[in-house]
Amino acid sequence: MNDVFLNGDFIAAEHAKVSVFDRGFLLGDGVYEVIPVYASQCFRLESHLNRLQRSLDAVRMTNPLSGSQWRTMIEQLIERNGGGDQSVYLQVTRGVAPRDHVFPEGVEPTAFAMSNPLQAVPEDYKSKGIAAITVPDIRWQNCHIKAITLLPNSLLKQQAQDVGAQEALLIRDGYLTEGSASNAYAVIDGKIYTAPKDEKVLPGITRELILELAASANITVKEQAVTEQQLRDADEIWVSSSTKEVLPVTTLDGVAVSSGKPGEVWKKIDVLYQQYKQQGGF
Ligand code: PDD
Repeated sequence: MNDVFLNGDFIAAEHAKVSVFDRGFLLGDGVYEVIPVYASQCFRLESHLNRLQRSLDAVRMTNPLSGSQWRTMIEQLIERNGGGDQSVYLQVTRGVAPRDHVFPEGVEPTAFAMSNPLQAVPEDYKSKGIAAITVPDIRWQNCHIKAITLLPNSLLKQQAQDVGAQEALLIRDGYLTEGSASNAYAVIDGKIYTAPKDEKVLPGITRELILELAASANITVKEQAVTEQQLRDADEIWVSSSTKEVLPVTTLDGVAVSSGKPGEVWKKIDVLYQQYKQQGGF
């Protein structure tokens, strides 16, 4: 079994134990990151560590490790678990304290990291596209924070799974926000639309790269949320995340998206994305 990192030490996963009084366990009081690793190299690590810091600041938690400590630890974790393509998970909780909604004083945060083999994206998700459903966005008002409290996201993704779809696209006040575990995009008349970076969506690291790649290819991006109707009428729909990259959605609520095939703009971005991965040095 793999080694994990817990509060300063590397230990075998089966020996890693956290107190039942940890606020992550009792209150879901913690934040996290998921970082893809290609050929032993973290993808866009700087951006992930910056977002972790922003999540910690937003929930008034201190960062238990410095940037260089996170980097060194992550490098060692990848190495200990055999290198190659992995998915690194980081979690910080407010720590161990008697159960109380009010923040405890003088408590050390719990720092945890694990790494697992990166699951390859199934080939037909790209050749045929995936199915998505629309659901009301039942989450809270601070979706920009990468909080471990994922019960709403989990319920929504399960709802998709229950009807044979791979993702749930979330509608808030008539507009598409994002997916249950992904950012979402609509292509309309050759332009890419994605919700702006505000408290309604997670500022995805993959999203950040997609916008850079689109700019490099002179494809117009509008950081503007689309309405549910615009979504249904879109030429293309995509979702993106660190573990799934960029995937075309070809069926929405059981209805084909445009031609029902992965679109041309998605194909361009996917080619650029794969080239970017190949280059290394991210
Ligand atoms: N989730 N929006 C939500 C709600 C997400 O959970 C994720 C990713 C994203 C995409 O962010 P990024 O491109 O930085 O991975 C957007 C991760 C992968 C997870 O929870 O496992």
